[in-house]
Amino acid sequence: MSSSCSRLSRVLVAIATALVSASSPCPQGWGPPGVQYGQPGRPVMLCCPGVSAGTPVNWFRDRESRLLQGPDSGLGNNLVLAQAHSTDEGIYICRTLDGELQGIVTLKLGYPPARPVVSCQSSNYENISCTWSPSQVSGLPTCYLTSYRMKMLPGIDQERANLSAWKPCPQDPLGNPRCVIYWAEFWSQYQMNVTEVNPLGASTCLLDIRFWDILRPDPPEGLRVESVPGYPQRLHATWTYPTSWPQKPHFTLKFRLQYRPAQHPAWSTVEPIDLEELITDAVAGLPHEVRVSARDFLDAGTWSAWSPVVLGTPGTESLTNEIPDAGKIHTQLVDSMAPSRPSLQPDLWPLDHRGPLGQMAVLLSLGVFSFLGLTAGALTLVFWLRLRWSRKDGIQKPGFLASMFPADKLPGIPDL
Ligand SMILES: *[C@@H]1O[C@H](CO)[C@@H](O)[C@H](O)[C@H]1NC(C)=O
Ligand SMILES: *[C@@H]1O[C@H](CO)[C@@H](O)[C@H](O)[C@H]1NC(C)=O
Ligand SMILES: *[C@@H]1O[C@H](CO)[C@@H](O)[C@H](O)[C@H]1NC(C)=O
Repeated sequence: MSSSCSRLSRVLVAIATALVSASSPCPQGWGPPGVQYGQPGRPVMLCCPGVSAGTPVNWFRDRESRLLQGPDSGLGNNLVLAQAHSTDEGIYICRTLDGELQGIVTLKLGYPPARPVVSCQSSNYENISCTWSPSQVSGLPTCYLTSYRMKMLPGIDQERANLSAWKPCPQDPLGNPRCVIYWAEFWSQYQMNVTEVNPLGASTCLLDIRFWDILRPDPPEGLRVESVPGYPQRLHATWTYPTSWPQKPHFTLKFRLQYRPAQHPAWSTVEPIDLEELITDAVAGLPHEVRVSARDFLDAGTWSAWSPVVLGTPGTESLTNEIPDAGKIHTQLVDSMAPSRPSLQPDLWPLDHRGPLGQMAVLLSLGVFSFLGLTAGALTLVFWLRLRWSRKDGIQKPGFLASMFPADKLPGIPDL
């Protein structure tokens, strides 16, 4: 696809040259040889291939003897249709007056490109993937030119302006509408250019992108939910980082975990910072649904999608990761709710804190002030470390933080 597009760029140049010199054969470059293009409702000019510009010819429709346009039209080897209609699509024949040379042209009608719809995503802090789709069907052979550049802030050292040159964004080799900016820099802003090109023209979508806006991790993986022997209200959940998230210092994830008795309408939500959570207010004997999602620790981007739901039942000794028959769960739920807790509202379930959790709440509130202080300190530290880490990394990757620091403040960066 990209190779056909680079061929196309050359063709566009060729067309421009042809229009200027007006003595070359017909512009050609899209689709099968001999196909020319026009737009419904607009004038269309066909060009007789194989004869030099200006040579008078006779034009016919294929398999029709009626003369469409004779040599006295003043249009040379061109045929003009004042207003193309879908019935004009098809094969045209042109002949020189001596009948010696005959050219065949196929007319195909469609629309010029419209600005494509582009969106960019990243499930890690290294590569940005951009996808696009047409905003209008042109009905014509189409390709997309993709490029990007790093955006420079005004006042940046001009020696480093080369970093902001446009570079091609490599497209998916299988032809899917996707290209990837590899090794993008976390704190930099990029500009993406996706240009839809077809025989009737080109239309560009420009998009500004930053990791800070588009980062969306994949859901956490390997979620396991286990009962805790001897504690009929407890469930212990563990999970791992998504494999697509490179685990380097200062780029950590935080998590959000939800749980509820199976098929209960309301989820309870907690925000563990680590890779595990102890649920202490589960309903003994009932299967519970648990799911977890992730987000960059500094709140860049958005929360990931939820992981697939995993079931666990407190008060049983065995692992219960298999999914029980849905009808059975429902009956269990209704049975256990109806006779023993007739007045209980569904929404009150998550608030039904008793026993161990009540004591924990007291402890928690005691710890809250010191915790808040610690958190603020830790966040500042992580932020600073990430900045420092990025900066160190930038020494191997020229241009890092270019938009934040002048070149002379970053030692060891080679010129490009
Ligand atoms: C980003 O792309 C590079 C180059 O293909 C690859 O080596 C790297 O693993 C990618 N990073 C992630 C997190 O997938
Ligand atoms: C910028 O790029 C041009 C060619 O692309 C090169 O000639 C020039 O030396 C580069 N300038 C710097 C400062 O790297
Ligand atoms: C976007 O890319 C197209 C095709 O490469 C190019 O013709 C156009 O000038 C670019 N637009 C901008 C604003 O750079």
